[in-house]
Amino acid sequence: MNSFLRIGIAGLGTVGSATAKIIQEQADMLSHRCGKQIEITAVTARDKSKNRKIDLSGVKWLDRPMDLATDPNIDVVVEMIGGEDGVALELVRASLENGKHVVTANKAMLAHHGAELFALASENDKILAFEAAVAGGIPIIKAVREGLSANHFSAIYGILNGTCNYILTEMWQNGLDFETALQQAQDAGYAEADPSFDIDGVDASHKLALLTALAFTGDPDFDKLETEGLRSITALDIDYATELGYRIKLLGITQNTEHGVIQTVSPCMIPETASLASVEGSLNAVFVDGDQVGTTMYVGAGAGGSETGSAVVADIIDIARGHRWQHKPYVETTTYAPKEARTGKFYLRLMVNDVSGVMADVTAILRDHNVSLKSILQYGHSVEESVPLVLTTHETKECGIRDAIISLRKLDSVLTEPCLLRIELLD
Ligand SMILES: NC(=O)c1ccc[n+]([C@@H]2O[C@H](COP(=O)([O-])OP(=O)(O)OC[C@H]3O[C@@H](n4cnc5c(N)ncnc54)[C@H](OP(=O)(O)O)[C@@H]3O)[C@@H](O)[C@H]2O)c1
Repeated sequence: MNSFLRIGIAGLGTVGSATAKIIQEQADMLSHRCGKQIEITAVTARDKSKNRKIDLSGVKWLDRPMDLATDPNIDVVVEMIGGEDGVALELVRASLENGKHVVTANKAMLAHHGAELFALASENDKILAFEAAVAGGIPIIKAVREGLSANHFSAIYGILNGTCNYILTEMWQNGLDFETALQQAQDAGYAEADPSFDIDGVDASHKLALLTALAFTGDPDFDKLETEGLRSITALDIDYATELGYRIKLLGITQNTEHGVIQTVSPCMIPETASLASVEGSLNAVFVDGDQVGTTMYVGAGAGGSETGSAVVADIIDIARGHRWQHKPYVETTTYAPKEARTGKFYLRLMVNDVSGVMADVTAILRDHNVSLKSILQYGHSVEESVPLVLTTHETKECGIRDAIISLRKLDSVLTEPCLLRIELLD
């Protein structure tokens, strides 16, 4: 075989070094599968002296990432630096402009700059591949873009952040409070030292913006997403969920409704019998509703070096095979539903001062906002300490219950920030 695909890798951290390792260790299989030998020509990272546990002999080290974009011996730039802006964005722009294909796992960059970058890739007739950017090792991009390309989609939803799923699983299985479960996730290497992107739902939202673009709108628009994270969830909510027959999961949901696209990332209660309820630990799972195929489900590792590297290398193989696709997906709609159009069933937990009249005050406020209650749970009784008051609603306007919460906060008897969760009656 005398045909080569020459790769330059920017970033040799968790994913970059795992990608290099797969390319080196699986060389024979990969060249058989794609009909070309994949050769790592050059690499770059911040610290040249760091031991990457990969063999870089014969590979050119570049001190400046931007030099990959102009190196004539590179066909594909693999951007594994990360970050919404900065070096990663400059490198991807310059690489496409200089006629290189790009493979990236950088969901933050694509969620914010995807429209510009995909247009740039099309203009330059180059591939900008990003399988690893959504749900790590699960080939969900390929599934939606290719395997399901005969379908109009109505919804894509699922567990898109393994760290959050790990925390919620630990809280449920071992009765941990949120802080302890988060610490455990950090000790186990699932959560970063600064975990805010994960636990505030931002990472899942980056991925959801890409799925929305693929299924409905053509371009990602991160600003049209509603994002809520896990910080308001307590061990008490996990217990109440169990009592009500639910599990709590951080779900990303994008759907094409009669009012336009609605995309949300938030902790939701789902029936304990739902398929997503059994997706535990750091796993991700994505459901896709297509008009021809019905519902299909994809489960697997959403992060990790070799798992994410598997998706990166799959993109490289596609490029080696000469595979091409349109960067602008089919546009179903560019309309996003206004907030007023959103409805749902809700769980509302208040911590109240257990004095007479509290229940009447709370229910009166909900009534005034046209929120119809399905159930009320209150067990404890203490005049000195706060007690939980848990309510679930029938289908109601989300803006109504959110307005009601503004009034509830003003009651002297409501002592802490109310916890509001959507109830999604998934199968
Ligand atoms: N980790 C996962 O499981 C996972 C899963 C899916 C997607 N992703 C995405 O994959 C990408 C990489 O993530 P990662 O976890 O591999 O990150 P990481 O372990 O932090 O690695 C980042 C790499 O980029 C290098 N780097 C950072 N700033 C640089 C600069 N200014 N110039 C040159 N090199 C620079 C670092 O160099 P040094 O090593 O010298 O410090 C390091 O090698 C991100 O976009 C992330 O969102 C990660």
